Amino acid sequence: MNSLAQINLQHLPAHIAIIMDGNGRWAQEQGNNRLFGHMHGVESVRDIVEGAAEIGIQYLTLYTFSTENWDRPADEVNGLMELLVDTIKKEVPTLNKNNIRLHVIGHTERLPAHAREQLNEALKDTAANNGLQLIMALSYSSRTEMVDAVKNIAASVKNNELAINAITPETITQHLSTSDFPEPALLIRTGGDYRISNFLLYQIAYTELYFTETMWPAFRKEDLHKAIIEFQRRERRFGKTGDQIKGSV
Ligand code: IPE
Ligand code: IPE
Ligand code: MG
Repeated sequence: MNSLAQINLQHLPAHIAIIMDGNGRWAQEQGNNRLFGHMHGVESVRDIVEGAAEIGIQYLTLYTFSTENWDRPADEVNGLMELLVDTIKKEVPTLNKNNIRLHVIGHTERLPAHAREQLNEALKDTAANNGLQLIMALSYSSRTEMVDAVKNIAASVKNNELAINAITPETITQHLSTSDFPEPALLIRTGGDYRISNFLLYQIAYTELYFTETMWPAFRKEDLHKAIIEFQRRERRFGKTGDQIKGSV
């Protein structure tokens, strides 16, 4: 049976988040430079976005560039920015054809002006699409996002718009850059490392985690299907007992 046929389409994770890791090592293993890996990583992005849209995933968040990634060698950062501009420019017609809307989270004001402009145009051009919601985390750090949220909440308290006792977990959710999206049901990290690297720390409290050794440039639809099949085998208990979840108590 092929991998797609094993997926229960009635029980899909509404939101999948992916830490797309391993581009550099994938390239270096073949004696190529890291940028070669990033270029091939774009092929994987295409395949996975198409694969997610095909089966009806509603939200897909891709960790594309972290705040900490700004500290990489200038050549690599510049190369990544060029690749970003190029890819966005090329992909907008496909996004529109497939009814995919692009969103972005992160401190995009740090991006070079031409990248920001290209990005804003793509956000505008895809704004009417109501199929897959594709969220790119760019110049993103979860701790920075939480600091921003705390500052905004503190300002509301100071202006007497919010009482301290009225602050709940939901207040925090509403002040994060992901406030328009549900929490990820499934988080995938490629590249063989077992860490979160400052990604969606608050949002993944009850997310199912899936780690694979496969490097991002080698990750394809079938690998996404495998992760979803594994997700569908798990029992999400949210602190309750298994019997409660099965409805037998
Ligand atoms: C992920 O691959 C892409 C970015 C972080 C931009 P890496 O570039 O981190 O590749 P590795 O982990 O060094 O192999
Ligand atoms: C996480 O990968 C960031 C992205 C995939 C964009 P990193 O390669 O930056 O993470 P670390 O440094 O291995 O934790
Ligand atoms: Mg990495």
